[in-house]
Amino acid sequence: MARHSSILLLLLVLILAPAAADASISLRRAPSVLQRRGGGGRGAGRASPAPAPRLLFKGSRPGEFKILQVADMHYADGRSTGCLDVFPNQTATCSDLNTTAFIYRVIRDETPDLVVFTGDNIFGFDATDAAKSLDMSFEPAVSLKLPWAAVLGNHDQESTLSREGVMRHIVSMPYTLSKLNPNSFDIDGFGNYNLEIYGAEGSSLSNKSVLNLYFLDSGDYSTVPSVPGYGWIKASQQVWFKQTSSRLQKEYMRKPSAQKEGAPGLVYFHIPLPEFSSFDASNFTGVKQEGISSASINSGFFSTLLEARDVKAVFTGHDHLNDFCGKLTGIHLCYAGGFGYHAYGKAGWSRRARVVSAYLEKTVNGEWGGVKSIKTWKRLDDKYLSTIDSQVLWSKGTNGKLLFFC
Ligand SMILES: *[C@@H]1O[C@H](CO)[C@@H](O)[C@H](O)[C@H]1NC(C)=O
Ligand SMILES: *[C@@H]1O[C@H](CO)[C@@H](O)[C@H](O)[C@H]1NC(C)=O
Ligand SMILES: *[C@@H]1O[C@H](CO)[C@@H](O)[C@H](O)[C@H]1NC(C)=O
Ligand SMILES: *[C@@H]1O[C@H](CO)[C@@H](O)[C@H](O)[C@H]1NC(C)=O
Repeated sequence: MARHSSILLLLLVLILAPAAADASISLRRAPSVLQRRGGGGRGAGRASPAPAPRLLFKGSRPGEFKILQVADMHYADGRSTGCLDVFPNQTATCSDLNTTAFIYRVIRDETPDLVVFTGDNIFGFDATDAAKSLDMSFEPAVSLKLPWAAVLGNHDQESTLSREGVMRHIVSMPYTLSKLNPNSFDIDGFGNYNLEIYGAEGSSLSNKSVLNLYFLDSGDYSTVPSVPGYGWIKASQQVWFKQTSSRLQKEYMRKPSAQKEGAPGLVYFHIPLPEFSSFDASNFTGVKQEGISSASINSGFFSTLLEARDVKAVFTGHDHLNDFCGKLTGIHLCYAGGFGYHAYGKAGWSRRARVVSAYLEKTVNGEWGGVKSIKTWKRLDDKYLSTIDSQVLWSKGTNGKLLFFC
């Protein structure tokens, strides 16, 4: 019995030690992780198209790649647009500019390698000029020259631009890695694309995507008369996702440096899946303060994600008062919590953002390998920019669980 417990203890130490080491990595300024690569232009510049940038594990936090998720900015006209759900003594001094200030604050402190905006970036009804509102909303990422990606919510198209127009505007902005849609693929929506994050420079995985990000347009409202409510991820988008995931997994497992299984994937979109209702306070981290506003029918995207097998977590926004992460059959379903001040919220419950960090393992010969673990936490727009609800989303080989070999 005693012998067994010491073996268990040893195993626990072995499993938890790398996690503790990650936590000690200090937050230093990460230089840009955008590396210019020759070849295929993105067609942004008319005279000389900019080479396709690629994301990689690099910089003063070697072995870590950090993503900041900003959900539901609900940006409108800037200084003249007031805040919702703040205390009466805060209304006079609060506007969209507080949303901008929060982005700067959290970026300066976390120094993410990528910022992901998960829709309702602008609140179209109150935005006089959609293009101007979009420019204002993404301005911090652009000014700080940070790579950023965005998807559409259900409010982005309610101003002077259509959904296609909004996404076209986004992809034309500086430093964005957003794309309109995959080439030569008949797909629903606008802003369905993936991003590949390459292994550490100089390592044997430097030419392979060790972390895959998928972005999808979860639509706005149902266009089927008999179905009320919000939109959903359509069959065409699921086919594209499945093909992309399958291709990426094959590439990762192919020589040279063939890996045993596909690289982990993370999925970002706006409207939560019906499966977000699978949890209660006993099995999620965070809070649920309102219902799950998913589509009223289930289009099966969760099953598609399960079948693909590489996705470890899904990140949405849409329900500003929910900020939890819960794990269902091996996949974490996570909200970011509301970020914007011109979005409904709750006075006294700080606006917030979600951070996700992926960490590389060290191989036996001491070089950086593939992704070993993925963690998340949230940052609050309070006096201390508080960090809350840190949790491990996935770790290699354990599927986030501890293994016992007794
Ligand atoms: C503003 O109002 C809230 C709620 O009534 C209160 O908790 C807070 O102390 C007030 N702040 C100031 C600066 O008066
Ligand atoms: C909004 O920003 C102003 C100016 O910095 C600040 O005085 C105010 O406290 C902020 N309001 C909130 C709700 O954070
Ligand atoms: C990665 O690709 C570059 C350019 O094709 C090549 O020079 C380099 O040797 C490759 N590195 C590895 C580890 O495969
Ligand atoms: C969470 O716990 C509740 C009971 O408290 C249970 O009904 C539900 O199935 C659990 N969900 C998951 C995903 O484990």
